[in-house]
Amino acid sequence: MRAGVQWVTPVETPKLLDDEVHIWRASLEMDSAALRRFESLLAADERIRAERFMFDRDRNRFIAARGILRGALSRYLACSPQIIGFVYGPRGKPAIASGGEQPPIHFNLSHAHGLALIGITRKREIGIDVELIRSDFASQEITKRYFSPKEIDRLNEIPGERRTEAFFLCWTRKEAYIKAKGDGLHIPLDSFDVSLSPDEPAQLFCADQSRWKIETFVPSIVPEHRYAGAVVAEGKDWAARYFEWKQ
Ligand SMILES: CC(C)(COP(=O)(O)OP(=O)(O)OC[C@H]1O[C@@H](n2cnc3c(N)ncnc32)[C@H](O)[C@@H]1OP(=O)(O)O)[C@@H](O)C(=O)NCCC(=O)NCCS
Repeated sequence: MRAGVQWVTPVETPKLLDDEVHIWRASLEMDSAALRRFESLLAADERIRAERFMFDRDRNRFIAARGILRGALSRYLACSPQIIGFVYGPRGKPAIASGGEQPPIHFNLSHAHGLALIGITRKREIGIDVELIRSDFASQEITKRYFSPKEIDRLNEIPGERRTEAFFLCWTRKEAYIKAKGDGLHIPLDSFDVSLSPDEPAQLFCADQSRWKIETFVPSIVPEHRYAGAVVAEGKDWAARYFEWKQ
């Protein structure tokens, strides 16, 4: 995992070059004034979605994530956040509405336990995933259900406490790939493999692996919570830059 990533708070919107992937991380914990401000940015369908959450905490995090997403995209598009329109792929992947033209930028969003990651590129499809590393979730049962036979064998070779980290490296890499493709769980999770040992570089083994590059990084904001993050984007000729979102 790329532990040494520096999360920079830029003074101005960073210029997004064709061979870059910009990754923003943001805390979704905020006060009610900030939440109200974000809520006012949402489109009618997003507000309807927000209302459907049973728990306030989930509703607030959805509003915060969509508000920050709109805020981040608006900086690159040089427009106000509320006028950005989204269209959705057949499996729900959001993209910027651009009247059938190529969208000016691509993005993907992931959030887990109060932390959001947004990946932004100019001309490349992108998928991003973040998960909180926690041992209670990384069970044999879940592993058997979601991982490929090769991944299960590899995971079982990894001793003790490193296995939990390897589990989440595997999970986030698989999720980032299916999110880049936009097909969600319609892609059989045993139809491709990822590397998962914390000592090995991130790798994808799939029929279209020449189309993608994958990176793994550590997105933790607070030391007591460890997260795993992975990004998959089209092409091999890009480098990621990491930014911190401040209100
Ligand atoms: C919906 C899915 C795309 C991601 O779900 P997730 O991991 O629970 O959630 P994340 O926070 O990473 O991503 C959700 C965001 O991805 C975006 N998204 C939604 N559908 C998407 C799709 N088909 N492709 C890419 N991105 C999508 C949305 O912006 C969404 O956030 P929002 O609804 O708040 O706007 C899908 O992959 C899924 O259902 N996963 C379930 C988890 C699982 O079983 N994973 C197995 C890994 S081994």
